Amino acid sequence: MADRTITQEAEDLLRRVRAGDVRALARAVSVVEESGAAATAVLTAAHSVREDADPIRIGFTGPPGAGKSTLVDAYARLLRQQNETVGIVAVDPTSPFHGGAILGDRIRMQAHDGDAGIYIRSVATRGMLGGLAAATAEICTVIEASGKSRMLIETVGVGQDEVEIARLADVTVLVLVPGMGDDVQSIKAGVMEIADIFVINKSDREGAERVESEILAMQSLAMEHGAWTPPVIRTVATTGAGVAEMHAEIARYVEHLRANDGLRIRRQSAWSQRLRQMAQRELLRVVERHTTPAAMEPYATAVLAGKTNPYDVVHETVRNVLGAAAGMRLDHLGIAVKSIAEAKKFYGVLGLHIEHEETVEHEQVKTAMLPLGETRIELLEPTAEDSVIGRYLAKRGEGLHHIAVHVPNVAAAMQSMKDAGVRLVNEQVKVGAGGHRYFFVHPASTGGVLLEIVSSDDPRGL
Ligand code: CO
Repeated sequence: MADRTITQEAEDLLRRVRAGDVRALARAVSVVEESGAAATAVLTAAHSVREDADPIRIGFTGPPGAGKSTLVDAYARLLRQQNETVGIVAVDPTSPFHGGAILGDRIRMQAHDGDAGIYIRSVATRGMLGGLAAATAEICTVIEASGKSRMLIETVGVGQDEVEIARLADVTVLVLVPGMGDDVQSIKAGVMEIADIFVINKSDREGAERVESEILAMQSLAMEHGAWTPPVIRTVATTGAGVAEMHAEIARYVEHLRANDGLRIRRQSAWSQRLRQMAQRELLRVVERHTTPAAMEPYATAVLAGKTNPYDVVHETVRNVLGAAAGMRLDHLGIAVKSIAEAKKFYGVLGLHIEHEETVEHEQVKTAMLPLGETRIELLEPTAEDSVIGRYLAKRGEGLHHIAVHVPNVAAAMQSMKDAGVRLVNEQVKVGAGGHRYFFVHPASTGGVLLEIVSSDDPRGL
């Protein structure tokens, strides 16, 4: 029930975000930054609407002091003159305190005269599970849901984080400045390669020539960029000089991508990367939940006493964690009764109520499901005397008939049991009410309990 409320709240929030409510957008970004179930609900709702806008993401990266914020602001102003709406995500790993970043956002927003067509948000870097790139991607998704047509992602620095963030963008602009010490050579080759467009900002300063010739020399040496040679643009962000040229090159690159199916290829590769990060993060969450100090204490004691070795412990822990993560749980307890109408009186007194009632013709049984926390009680009433449940009642009377365990993949479970020589009641997986799939394991193999193995309808349609 709690989950449904979180989903409804997220959908309400996203409705307001789409309607242009800036406070709702700020709230949605904050929820996502806090992570957890509410964040997932907001991201799910945001993801389903962001494609409507089909925003172009443009990444700006480069060393500290290159004037990227000023350049990005100047570019945002130009885009607004062309009636584009703009989201700006400013990623600053050196920013120590998020409250300060929020204040910085407000000051930057004021510089745009409170224009509702521009939304600026800094990314807090501390304590965000899964790293900076994942956090940036999520915040972009939320802002994009507000219908912005251009997303400008601004990062400070030229390290691995920036390369990862650049992969989120459709276009990457590498911003350099004259007088960068050892200049272009000081930037790692991996960073130079992410540039689709080079910008030499503060190009009114001495040394702009030198930076440009170094870029060109490096390009002629090493750069293999398909049919695209990254152009070099000179700008002075404080005066706006060169910003229109930069915009023209960005537009030309987007056209180049479109003409070669490059936009789709680039986004697909970004998603592959991101899905992998998301899976890693999800796994990390599950591991953290299942390996609390209290949970690990008995193992630590055993390792210390020399009763086991840490490698076996880790192996077993990972297997247990994966089992739990993959959705193994007690699904329901099946109780054979003469009359559901009669039995439900007691369960009503207990506080349980029938959620779903159905007659399964091929089993000649009427079933009633009573939710009980994350599991359920299943009442089974025979529709014929000569049925499985009818014969069970005749032989043993009313009582616990079976236990059902939910597994992620019912077919795989059946196969591994067959491989292990487990005695099964059904040799094939059956399809029951609501499309769920199941089979029964014989009590001879389970310690005297009839065991049902069940999984939900497979979303992949397998
Ligand atoms: Co059952």
